[in-house]
Amino acid sequence: MSKEDLRILVADDDAGARELISAILDAEGWPSPTTVEDGEEALRHIGQEHWDILVTDLDMPRMRGDELVVQALEEDPDLSIVVTTGDGTVGNAVDLIKKGATDFIAKPYDVDDFLASMERAKTRALGIHEVKGMRQTVEALLVALESKDRYLNGHSARVRDMAIKLGEISGLDRGQLRSLSHAALLHDIGKIGVHEDILNKAGALTDDEYEIIKKHPQMSADIIAPVPFLNPSLKGVLHHHENWDGTGYPEGLSGEQIPLMARIIAVVDAFDAMTSDRSYRGALSEADAVERIRAGSGSQFDPRIAQLFEQHKNEILEGEEVI
Ligand SMILES: [Fe+2]
Repeated sequence: MSKEDLRILVADDDAGARELISAILDAEGWPSPTTVEDGEEALRHIGQEHWDILVTDLDMPRMRGDELVVQALEEDPDLSIVVTTGDGTVGNAVDLIKKGATDFIAKPYDVDDFLASMERAKTRALGIHEVKGMRQTVEALLVALESKDRYLNGHSARVRDMAIKLGEISGLDRGQLRSLSHAALLHDIGKIGVHEDILNKAGALTDDEYEIIKKHPQMSADIIAPVPFLNPSLKGVLHHHENWDGTGYPEGLSGEQIPLMARIIAVVDAFDAMTSDRSYRGALSEADAVERIRAGSGSQFDPRIAQLFEQHKNEILEGEEVI
């Protein structure tokens, strides 16, 4: 996806303004925009097909630009929106950005300012495409992983859902929760490199087999390392099998040396594993699993996180089917 592939919609009741925008974009090698005369028509287009960038006037008959911003984003939250207006007050700009517009430009604008706004919208739109593509890749990898190890069916998504709730309760901010969510979803992705016979083995693992299993956090980290937006999640993935007392792997970190994200994943991962059927044993009851988390507090698990998990268990499991 590049600039030439972007789909641009322009809404302005002034024919001269529409022509000007089309001419500027044409001259600068942008794709030719589709133009409409008011907000209602723009919204109809947005409901019917995908657009990357909407350039809209603020003051239009029938539906104003600010109303269009709100309704257009309800229809398609990924839309990047540049608002142009003759009323370029700061209050107006702040209000529009709050409503979700990507950028705001006061008329009369010079061509460079308009193009700078379009560049910002382009950067956002291309970023959204990239993230969507990554998400599809991640989903494909997870399907591959979970079909390889039948005991992992749905495990990654459940661990993610529980980790987000436990993360909120532990006081993580929005950015940290996003990284935690990705780390929790992908923590076991490295198992894709472990042979099925080992993953699905019914009996106890030999020492050699266990050594292979122990490589999966590093393999998970290696898989996500080249993806820039997953970088903040790397440590959560790499250290999800570290133990509070330093007996875990891969690095034998202990206590608060272990990234908080990884300490949270460790608890919910263990809980989900215990309450699911595995090749080597049947599922434990919820109560037994909680009991084991408590027993592992201070040795395997961060005591504070283990306690928060137990205290808020119902909220964390809300909507989760526990066998
Ligand atoms: Fe794991």
